Amino acid sequence: VPSPTAEPAAPQRLFGAAVRPDQLTDETPLLAAIRGCGLLVPEYHGQWSAVEWRRGDPWYGNYDAILDFAEKHGQQVRGHSLIWEQMTPDWAREEMTSGKDWKTIERHFATLLPRYSGRIREWIVVNEMIDTEHGDHGFRRTSFQRAYGNDYVRRALETARVLDPQAKLMINDYSLLYDNPVDEARRNKMLRLVESIKASGTPLDMVGIQGHLELRKGRISQPKAARFMTDLAGMGVEVAITELDVLEDDLRRPIGERDRLVADAAQDLLDVVADQKAVGSVVTWGLSDKQSWLQDRLDATKAAQACTPVDCGRMNRGLPFDGEMRPKPMHAALQRTLTMA
Ligand code: G3I
Repeated sequence: VPSPTAEPAAPQRLFGAAVRPDQLTDETPLLAAIRGCGLLVPEYHGQWSAVEWRRGDPWYGNYDAILDFAEKHGQQVRGHSLIWEQMTPDWAREEMTSGKDWKTIERHFATLLPRYSGRIREWIVVNEMIDTEHGDHGFRRTSFQRAYGNDYVRRALETARVLDPQAKLMINDYSLLYDNPVDEARRNKMLRLVESIKASGTPLDMVGIQGHLELRKGRISQPKAARFMTDLAGMGVEVAITELDVLEDDLRRPIGERDRLVADAAQDLLDVVADQKAVGSVVTWGLSDKQSWLQDRLDATKAAQACTPVDCGRMNRGLPFDGEMRPKPMHAALQRTLTMA
């Protein structure tokens, strides 16, 4: 029997990563690192237009491949994401905005939620709904907002709960951590949205903070980030860091300095997370710099800085492993905070 003074066990805070099915087949150092995750998230292949490019002809192969791999290795899978403007098939956008019939959404959710009930235990139901500049009540002017009005987020959560009563339901957004007017406004809009969702009795279990950090924005505001997470937890939702990586775009700095700056930026956020019992997982948006979506963001920068994209050393170095799968100081920072295999 543990002595009464025994420290309560540290909360199991899962480490996860965004993955693509093609990364799960060959025995590579990347695959070994993926096995070390407790949670896998389809980086792209779970999106509406990746599953049902043609109406009525859903392709489950990629989701099944990620789930089969995860279940074989005792890992959880997060559904990502049911509603996201950028990955809405054209036929669905047209159907929604012309017919304005909620059945388009119900049909889409019914394509995925019952099939994976009990296997995918948490879903990002709506991704990136907060508007920065304008939008009524802070909503982005998406096809969903135009077709169904500002109530679409709440309705989507209600519909998801009916189709999979046991799944945890999430909403997920970005630019919520820095000490600048944009992030401050976005934090307030998210808090107001969560408050109204909970006040209406609509199911909402988790809020995802993407955590795409950018060195050019300076350091995150730890007090504001902590206060934001505490306020969310106070509304009865869990918090997740869902897409952590670091955009570091001064490619002329020495590699070691760039890696240290990236680790420091990640550590700032992990230090906040360590004190937040409501945060149950941190997912990095990929594991190796070679697969990072940030390369696209950097190509323009590379051109500007006359860097050759071919040289791995010139890659953005915002993930735990470099292009050759060597662990970097960011990986050590994650290991200190998270439960990693
Ligand atoms: O797999 C196809 C390939 O067969 C085809 O030849 C090629 C050319 O069209 O496209 C490939 O698919 C691309 C896919 O990434 C590869 O994984 C898609 O075009 C491309 O749009 C897709 O981009 C993804 C993007 O979301 C849009 O879904 C990025 O990988 C992914 O990192 C990014 O992730 C988003 C989160 O979901 C939401 N938060 C922001 C984050 C970064 O944009």
